[in-house]
Amino acid sequence: MENNTWHNAKDLIFGLNPFQKCRKNQKGSFILLSFLLFVCFSVEPVLGHLWDGVVVTQSDFQSLRAIKNELIDSKGVLKSWNDSGLGACSGNWVGIKCLKGEVVAIQLPWKSLGGKISEKIGQLQSLRKLSLHDNALVGSIPFSLGFLPNLRGVYLFNNKLSGSIPPSIANCPMLQSFDVSHNSLIGKIPSGLANSTRIFRINLSYNSLSGSIPSSFTMSHTLTILSLEFNNLTGPIPSELGKLTRLRILDLSNNAINGSFPLSFSNLSSLVSLNVENNHLENHVPNTFENLHNLSVINLKNNKFDGKIPSTLGNISNISQIDLSQNKFVGEIPDSFTKLANLSSFNVSHNNLSGHVPSLLSKKFNASSFEGNFGLCGYISSKPCPSPSPPPHNLPAQSPEEPPSKKHHRKLSTKDIILIVAGVLLLILLLLCCFLLCCLVRKRASSSRKSSKAAKAAASARSVEKGGPAGGEVVSGGEAGGKLVHFDGPFVFTADDLLCATAEIMGKSAYGTAYKATLEDGNQVAVKRLREKTTKGQKEFEAEVASLGKIRHQNLLALRAYYLGPKGEKLLVFDYMSRGSLASFLHARGPEIIVEWPTRMKIAIGITNGLCCLHNQENIVHGNLTSSNIQLDEQTNPHITDFGLSRLMTTSANTNIIATAGSLGYNAPELSKTKKPTTKTDVYSLGVILLELLTGKPPGEPTNGMDLPQWVASIVKEEWTNEVFDLELMRDAPTIGDELLNTLKLALHCVDPSPSARPEVKQVLQQLEEIKPELVEAEVDDDGAKVQTNE
Ligand SMILES: *[C@@H]1O[C@H](CO)[C@@H](O)[C@H](O)[C@H]1NC(C)=O
Ligand SMILES: *[C@@H]1O[C@H](CO)[C@@H](O)[C@H](O)[C@H]1NC(C)=O
Ligand SMILES: *[C@@H]1O[C@H](CO)[C@@H](O)[C@H](O)[C@H]1NC(C)=O
Ligand SMILES: *[C@@H]1O[C@H](CO)[C@@H](O)[C@H](O)[C@H]1NC(C)=O
Ligand SMILES: *[C@@H]1O[C@H](CO)[C@@H](O)[C@H](O)[C@H]1NC(C)=O
Ligand SMILES: *[C@@H]1O[C@H](CO)[C@@H](O)[C@H](O)[C@H]1NC(C)=O
Ligand SMILES: *[C@@H]1O[C@H](CO)[C@@H](O)[C@H](O)[C@H]1NC(C)=O
Ligand SMILES: *[C@@H]1O[C@H](CO)[C@@H](O)[C@H](O)[C@H]1NC(C)=O
Ligand SMILES: *[C@@H]1O[C@H](CO)[C@@H](O)[C@H](O)[C@H]1NC(C)=O
Ligand SMILES: *[C@@H]1O[C@H](CO)[C@@H](O)[C@H](O)[C@H]1NC(C)=O
Ligand SMILES: *[C@@H]1O[C@H](CO)[C@@H](O)[C@H](O)[C@H]1NC(C)=O
Repeated sequence: MENNTWHNAKDLIFGLNPFQKCRKNQKGSFILLSFLLFVCFSVEPVLGHLWDGVVVTQSDFQSLRAIKNELIDSKGVLKSWNDSGLGACSGNWVGIKCLKGEVVAIQLPWKSLGGKISEKIGQLQSLRKLSLHDNALVGSIPFSLGFLPNLRGVYLFNNKLSGSIPPSIANCPMLQSFDVSHNSLIGKIPSGLANSTRIFRINLSYNSLSGSIPSSFTMSHTLTILSLEFNNLTGPIPSELGKLTRLRILDLSNNAINGSFPLSFSNLSSLVSLNVENNHLENHVPNTFENLHNLSVINLKNNKFDGKIPSTLGNISNISQIDLSQNKFVGEIPDSFTKLANLSSFNVSHNNLSGHVPSLLSKKFNASSFEGNFGLCGYISSKPCPSPSPPPHNLPAQSPEEPPSKKHHRKLSTKDIILIVAGVLLLILLLLCCFLLCCLVRKRASSSRKSSKAAKAAASARSVEKGGPAGGEVVSGGEAGGKLVHFDGPFVFTADDLLCATAEIMGKSAYGTAYKATLEDGNQVAVKRLREKTTKGQKEFEAEVASLGKIRHQNLLALRAYYLGPKGEKLLVFDYMSRGSLASFLHARGPEIIVEWPTRMKIAIGITNGLCCLHNQENIVHGNLTSSNIQLDEQTNPHITDFGLSRLMTTSANTNIIATAGSLGYNAPELSKTKKPTTKTDVYSLGVILLELLTGKPPGEPTNGMDLPQWVASIVKEEWTNEVFDLELMRDAPTIGDELLNTLKLALHCVDPSPSARPEVKQVLQQLEEIKPELVEAEVDDDGAKVQTNE
């Protein structure tokens, strides 16, 4: 734990303390320069506290040497592993972390390492964490991992490892997380893989594993994530899988598993996501899913399930996605499905279903969700359903050849028929007249209703205005001619509903004003009225907004509809988030309200996850990521807002927006020159938000003339690292200290002044998940010291 040790070692390498170097470079460029130097060197002092400085044991030293020898280090990442062992445990060897002179972690992800993992790794008796993911490693997973009694985490995903998973892994009693996904592994899953009483997460996906799922897995009461998708697994699902009462994610998709769903599934009470797509499962789906109260995603696509769709699925109110397509289900779509308020994705296509599609479903989902069922009717572009009790004017249209009903004893004569036909024609004519008349009257009525509604809107807006300065109206005087376009979502409202809603101003941003609107049915939505004359022309606008309306992700605020007013007003309708913006959540709370570290970490991971989806799936650069643009729902899950809005705006409007964000402290330094947001400037903004979560300080308020990253840098430079953290976090410092330090280190990496040095958002996400792999289960090791490393 000696800072001195660290200094001395650094002094040896650099000739002098790098920060003394900074101090000599006085004058104007001092801050920028010291900041640059800080980023190059100072990440280490943050972690310096974790190094114990004891000289590495001879046995561990030899093992590390052997490991280096068998790796192919084309980029010279392991250059620092060069001395006779003095530096291994004093923080000089990259990726190594020790306790009492013994190596506890090797962490070298994304280092372009090739070659093999040496069997000598089994000599590192204290090793807890092995993280070599995203390299180009070949060969097999060392058998000797089974000799490591303290091993907790194995992260070898995204490599080219071959051979089979060593059965010896059953001997690691502390194993918590085992991820070897995306390799070329073959052979069977060892039956003892889940033997550890602490196993939490197993991910073997994207390999070529064969054989069946070991039934011994059903003994692992702690297992929470089981990801086996994209392998070549066969055999049935173990019948006692229901014993895994903590299991939240089960993904067996894209294998060749057969048999039926075990009845015991009804006991998987924690299950959130179930995916068995593309297997050979058959028989009925048990009607016992209703106990799975937390189930949100169910995907049974492309199997051979038959029988009826269990109506009890409709009792699970959390369900948001159902895919039952390409099976052999028969019967009707249960009416109970209309109770699923959160259903956002639904597919029963290509089965043998019949009957009416419940009307709520046919409104919400298009033909692609229902087609390929010959007996199914009542959805868009399907054949209409036969009416159960035909209206009376249909009766005479029956062809005379049909058997007469019991009432008509005598046969109809030709004369009768002519009379009847004439009568029918008359009736039809009469009905037509009535219809036309009705239409005329309705049109008049509706136009007068519209103006009265407009008056009502203005009145209601005025009454809110009277209530206080927060009052406002969504649209002043809605005249006929507006256009409302819905995207998929839970809301059903008309343009009139929207324009007549009571509205309250929530905030103003560069793009316009945001309102909280309460619709007549009590539903609340957030409405953003875009600033006039800043948006693109209507055609371009509608094309862009339509693509934004398709984006669905749990950390991105969903766009549900837009409205174009007759005078060019533009409204965007979003989900309403009850806990407001992250900025106000953090900075505008009462002194008695504490935001705990797990909440902050959950928010950090959520934002990163959302940004990751924007960058990697949607190809969208946010360009204006700030804590005011993060909204929190009831469970404080973060939802990024304002993404993609720049696409709706004119170029000049966008330039103004960049300038505004700059004054708030979220802009990467290069933006003042380039004026062009990139994924790297987004990562910078993300880093500022991470610092905001760690320090509890709003970045818009300079401290001693420094912005937030510079301020943090200056404190860390003076080795007062603990001073940067929000005071209320320090209460738990003994248990979360390492997580704070590692998150701080990551945040500083993100705000590196040089764009190319910043990580990709995907890497930020993976590192955050490594800092907190449990997410749900905060487990502290029995000796109280969590394993962390520098990379
Ligand atoms: C070992 O590596 C470090 C960092 O790459 C370098 O500064 C140092 O000069 C090397 N020492 C020896 C003895 O080669
Ligand atoms: C398992 O690994 C695959 C491939 O690395 C990844 O895509 C997937 O998200 C992982 N599953 C879980 C539940 O983490
Ligand atoms: C692992 O579990 C399996 C099945 O429960 C058992 O047969 C085996 O002995 C266990 N292995 C170890 C090393 O505990
Ligand atoms: C999957 O297993 C079957 C038989 O078990 C084998 O024929 C097939 O080649 C395997 N496929 C892959 C991709 O390994
Ligand atoms: C579910 O668990 C209970 C209690 O452990 C057990 O009695 C019951 O048999 C299980 N149900 C099934 C279908 O396995
Ligand atoms: C379902 O989820 C809620 C909230 O996420 C949690 O409190 C509850 O324990 C879960 N239920 C089960 C059976 O796991
Ligand atoms: C579950 O759904 C079924 C069929 O839709 C219904 O009969 C039953 O009452 C529901 N149970 C609960 C607890 O809501
Ligand atoms: C629907 O989802 C929202 C947000 O995820 C959640 O707050 C709400 O409880 C869910 N509704 C139901 C009926 O599960
Ligand atoms: C569809 O279901 C009906 C009974 O509802 C059955 O007679 C028919 O054979 C089924 N068709 C197919 C292709 O399975
Ligand atoms: C139907 O909806 C799905 C998902 O919402 C969408 O991907 C698809 O493009 C839609 N198809 C048509 C024809 O609108
Ligand atoms: C429904 O499933 C079918 C077949 O699995 C697929 O082709 C179609 O795109 C899906 N539609 C939607 C809306 O998901």
